[in-house]
Amino acid sequence: KANPRLKQLVGGLVQHLHDFLRENEVTLDEYFAAIDMINRAGQMSNAKRNEGQLLSDILGMESLCDEITSTLAAEAADQPTATAILGPFWRKDAPAYAMGDSIVKGFPDADHTLMHGRVLDFDTGTPIANAEVDIWHTAPNGLYESQDPEQPDMNLRGRFHTGPDGRYSLYCLRPTKYPIPDDGPAGELLGLLDRHPWRPAHIHFIISAEGYKSVVTQIFDRRDEHITDDVAFAVKESLVVDFAPRQGDPKGKFELEYDFKLVSFEAGKKYG
Ligand code: DHB
Ligand code: FE
Repeated sequence: KANPRLKQLVGGLVQHLHDFLRENEVTLDEYFAAIDMINRAGQMSNAKRNEGQLLSDILGMESLCDEITSTLAAEAADQPTATAILGPFWRKDAPAYAMGDSIVKGFPDADHTLMHGRVLDFDTGTPIANAEVDIWHTAPNGLYESQDPEQPDMNLRGRFHTGPDGRYSLYCLRPTKYPIPDDGPAGELLGLLDRHPWRPAHIHFIISAEGYKSVVTQIFDRRDEHITDDVAFAVKESLVVDFAPRQGDPKGKFELEYDFKLVSFEAGKKYG
């Protein structure tokens, strides 16, 4: 059956693509080089390697769609938690952990960090009980567990739930900057464009709660040299955080307090 929205999108896409081809006098050789790159990205994609997404992310497309989708007007001090791109490395069904558990297996000398805070209703400030905090990040070698045969399955991934006071608490690592995989078309394209492959140190989250709009986001470590030139264009100022040194805790050298603010479906109506 006909899909009017799809018809509109494909019509617009074809128009812009044709204009692009004409304006740049793209030759058949150039066109087939691009098709070959897309084909190779598809051929190497699987459950653990999302090369198509990588390719489009380094062209800023997910971050632009995120910006378009986001209902936040501007970045002001008091805003609901800003969204950021999902990226290609989320896995569903990460292990469920209890309050205060660590998602880290191994890496005894790494920068273990106590992260804690609340999940709040943005409009009322009320704590949200039983909200889910789904977290994932890379190991100190810059690899997600799904990219790294040395790590146990689902390492550095976990799901936590807030208590009645809206609080969550967990141990993770202070994140490490991360080069996107450069052994495929995305890396090849970056090389041809003379661009670096680095994402600044970041931790991914999906925060969800019944009756609230889920937030897909990331936080970024301010100290990272790539905070201003993320290869995937995902950094937003309100998501940049400062890790504090933590004394007297054998389980963690750093501490990060961070509150997430969600918009309820009810209140969301007034943000359009
Ligand atoms: C991308 C996102 C990530 O979070 C990451 O770790 C690597 C790549 C991306 O958007 O391409
Ligand atoms: Fe990432």
